[in-house]
Amino acid sequence: MIVKETLVLNYFDKNKREVIKKAAFIIKEGGLVAFPTETVYGLGADVFNNRAIERIYLAKGRPFDNPLIVHISDLSQLELLASPIPPEINSLANKFWPGPLTIILNRKAGIPSGVSAGLSTIAVRVPYHSAALELIKEAGTPIAAPSANLSGKPSPTESAHVIEDLGGKIEAVIDGGTCTIGLESTVLDLTGQEPVLLRPGGVDLEELEEFLKRPILLTSGLDIKKPISPGMKYRHYAPKASLLLFRGDTKKSKNVMEAYYYRLVKQGKKVGVLCTNENKHIYPDAVVEMLGRKANLQEAAVSLYSALRKLDRSQVDVILAESFTEEGIGLALMNRLQKAAQQIIEV
Ligand code: TXA
Ligand code: MG
Repeated sequence: MIVKETLVLNYFDKNKREVIKKAAFIIKEGGLVAFPTETVYGLGADVFNNRAIERIYLAKGRPFDNPLIVHISDLSQLELLASPIPPEINSLANKFWPGPLTIILNRKAGIPSGVSAGLSTIAVRVPYHSAALELIKEAGTPIAAPSANLSGKPSPTESAHVIEDLGGKIEAVIDGGTCTIGLESTVLDLTGQEPVLLRPGGVDLEELEEFLKRPILLTSGLDIKKPISPGMKYRHYAPKASLLLFRGDTKKSKNVMEAYYYRLVKQGKKVGVLCTNENKHIYPDAVVEMLGRKANLQEAAVSLYSALRKLDRSQVDVILAESFTEEGIGLALMNRLQKAAQQIIEV
């Protein structure tokens, strides 16, 4: 299917119902529609349409061994996709769905394997955003949707980011404004003896452990030797310029980052900086993208991807980035910064 122009459908239009109907029609016809979720924008296709699933991989330039997340509108649709369904799903879903938690289960026989990149498992979540829920209901089918960015680029948190990456390659995008969480869902694997965290995200690890009343094995982070989640082995969320991440004691790493900054400016480099509001004044000649207040990790989560895209547009030579504590959403934030980084400078 050749797409000439990507239709931008405004979710805030007073005729919202028509907007959703149009988007759902495109999905049912085998087209691709990007839509907002509370985490990031997803690139959706009918899970039962093999050709549409294949087009997702092609449009994103996504490696064919990196499986997709399937979005459902409520727990009852899970039976269509997974089997067996472990009993703890009910309480987990009650607590965390709709919301930014993706659960890996065993894939039901008959579900096309392309969506799972050939794995015997399947990733599922119920998104919180009303546009996403209405679209799934209207289309009458679960919707497979990875983040709606070109593979390897920062995920889109606004419809303009989707157009930047996929304009002319997909049929439509529903513009629902800026995503409220700004980082992707937490991915939890429930197919083994122990629950395993494959990707930190919108639901805090601490909250999940407290709820499950047992420890969750961690496989994400930089020190993983063998990637379990297929998506882990690729460099992600990466801006064009090399990103240097400064990690360790707050005061020391601030000093070291400042020293790098002055050295690079002296070399005539155009320096981009990702820092908290309170540190902006340290970098007078840099292109500074502020990530909110140090004490409020959610502000950094919401602005990170958009800040990386802005730095790309400013064509900086190098990006220096401050670290955050790894508590709550900070774990996901640091995970994304580490994956975007060319080099981590431990102090
Ligand atoms: O918040 C989100 O999860 C967003 C929105 C659109 O829902 N989606 C998203 O999808 O981030 P994507 O494709 O960018 O990331 C999906 C992650 C990848 O790391 C992938 O490897 C992992 O989930 N994944 C998907 N299916 C899996 C499976 N069967 N087993 C292990 N990992 C899986
Ligand atoms: Mg992604």
